[in-house]
Amino acid sequence: MEILFDTANLQDLERMVPLYPVHGVTTNPSIIKKEGRIDFYPHMRRIREIIGYERTLHAQVLARDTQGIIDDAHRLLDQIDDKVYPKIPTTEEGLAAMHQLKEEGIKVTATGIYSKTQGFLAIATGVDYLAPYYNRMQSIDIDTRGTISTLAGFIDRFNAPCKIMAASFKNIAQVSHALESGAHAVTMSPKLLRAALSSPDITDAVDVFIADWEKTFGTTSLP
Ligand code: G3P
Repeated sequence: MEILFDTANLQDLERMVPLYPVHGVTTNPSIIKKEGRIDFYPHMRRIREIIGYERTLHAQVLARDTQGIIDDAHRLLDQIDDKVYPKIPTTEEGLAAMHQLKEEGIKVTATGIYSKTQGFLAIATGVDYLAPYYNRMQSIDIDTRGTISTLAGFIDRFNAPCKIMAASFKNIAQVSHALESGAHAVTMSPKLLRAALSSPDITDAVDVFIADWEKTFGTTSLP
């Protein structure tokens, strides 16, 4: 199982990467926008410094046409580092670019997936990750769990070297449902994870354990 952070916020990454079992970081232009008009490539290189090379870094292309997407992917690899996974929207032009980049031996993440059709085309193209947009799919009444489970079945059946990295989560239940349905990886905002762990039920349980020990032994530490 892989957990990734869907953010480009350096403070959140510095604080939370050491605390959580994180496998990588994903970004897209809308996530970058939240950081303001940053110096993009140095910012991405700083994210790499924070997460190291043992974690994966996924950065999105901007062009719509196949050659433009291929050029963007090379820009990301040249300007950030050669271990970056270019994230490519799963359009006709995107699929053609993914095919070319895979021929070149480049790791690719297929993004913007709302349907089984986009998913199986990306799997057949040989991408490394595919990113179904859980909340966005659910908002337009697409069967998120069924889509992920079908795609996971295709990956198993054809022994495809591809992982489903579900994205676009608005609550932690969606994350669990994606994993239950067969997603191999999930990418989410660090704040979503932190909010889930900040439930009063969890903190109350810890308080009660310590209070009970103190009532018994008159101390709050183990002997
Ligand atoms: O990684 C893709 C994801 O960031 C899309 O999320 O919140 O814009 O639906 P959202």
